Amino acid sequence: MADKTILKALRGETQSVPPIWMMRQAGRYLPEYRATRAQAGDFLKLCYNPELAAEVTLQPIRRFGFDAAILFADILLVPQALGAELWFVTGEGPRLSTITQQSDFNALKGKDDIHKVLSPVYETVKILAQELPKETTLIGFAGAPWTVATYMLAGRGTPDQGPAHALREGNNELFENVINLLTLATIEYLDMQIRAGAEVVKIFDSWAGSLKGEAFEKYAVEPARIITQELKRRHPNVPIIGFPREAGDGYIGFAKKTGVDCVALDNSVSPEWGAANVQVDGCVQGNLKSSHMVTGGQGLIHDVRHIRETFSKGPHIFNLGHGITPDADPDNVALMIETLRETA
Ligand code: CP3
Repeated sequence: MADKTILKALRGETQSVPPIWMMRQAGRYLPEYRATRAQAGDFLKLCYNPELAAEVTLQPIRRFGFDAAILFADILLVPQALGAELWFVTGEGPRLSTITQQSDFNALKGKDDIHKVLSPVYETVKILAQELPKETTLIGFAGAPWTVATYMLAGRGTPDQGPAHALREGNNELFENVINLLTLATIEYLDMQIRAGAEVVKIFDSWAGSLKGEAFEKYAVEPARIITQELKRRHPNVPIIGFPREAGDGYIGFAKKTGVDCVALDNSVSPEWGAANVQVDGCVQGNLKSSHMVTGGQGLIHDVRHIRETFSKGPHIFNLGHGITPDADPDNVALMIETLRETA
């Protein structure tokens, strides 16, 4: 279906009403999500249950009519498939077994050994490719190597990615082994998602902003370039969205350097800055503050109109600057969509 609105934007078309989806659109702010998660048992069981993972992916499409559905899974399934232990502590977040020395790395599996663990995810994609409305685009995803490595090396989320930076400086060889393995595994993982029916893939580099200067080039830009180049070789028509969150000036030229078709912007940059510095090279995605989904009202309406207007001269996919939070009000999501689609 070449005329889905998201695919048009990713091909570079300017549209009077931009297509919209939302990061974490299947999530805890929705009562129907919480019910299905309870049915599955816990978050990871939900990720590995194709029927239920497809169900939660479809819930926000049914409720709001977004233009894209994003596969329900998590970026930390890849380290788990490589042999790391992974569990989620309620109210705190992920925990993983860590890698501190070469022998820990040597115990990991190879890039081609991930599919047994990840096959339920490919099954979810297959179900979604069948069940989604024909106008809805199916987005697959993976974490970028650096962001996934920050969790693998620390064993948890960290405010400053300290353990990953420490290894990068203290044992660069081991650090690069981890990055290189994740780069290759991510290619195989996304390749399988595409073969199962994903029409677009997105690479989430949530912690790209803590890499500066040469480190940003080596560990945010270069892995994204390698992944993009190889996926484009295998699947020339599948668009790729890059999200080097909080990259600041690193957003400038990111699409040209990596080959991604679209760059997702967070809220640390203004729409004016994004239009002038990033949209000049092609499609952008973003960048409404997630807090509007909690507060709603005139502030939300104003910013939705402002973002639409500011990006109206080029290809744009409307989205938040980061994921919606559990305390958000679903009525504000509906208000965002209604405001976006009103005739200007
Ligand atoms: O966007 C979507 O709706 C698709 C599904 C998706 C999830 N995680 C589901 C999820 C996607 C694309 C992700 C990406 C992800 N996961 C990232 C990158 C994007 C970002 O937010 O920066 C990261 C860093 C992770 C790792 C992760 N997963 C953390 C740190 C946490 C705990 C924090 C939290 O919000 O609770 C998760 C859990 C998680 N992943 C939830 C969901 C819906 C909440 C789990 C629950 O239901 O209890």
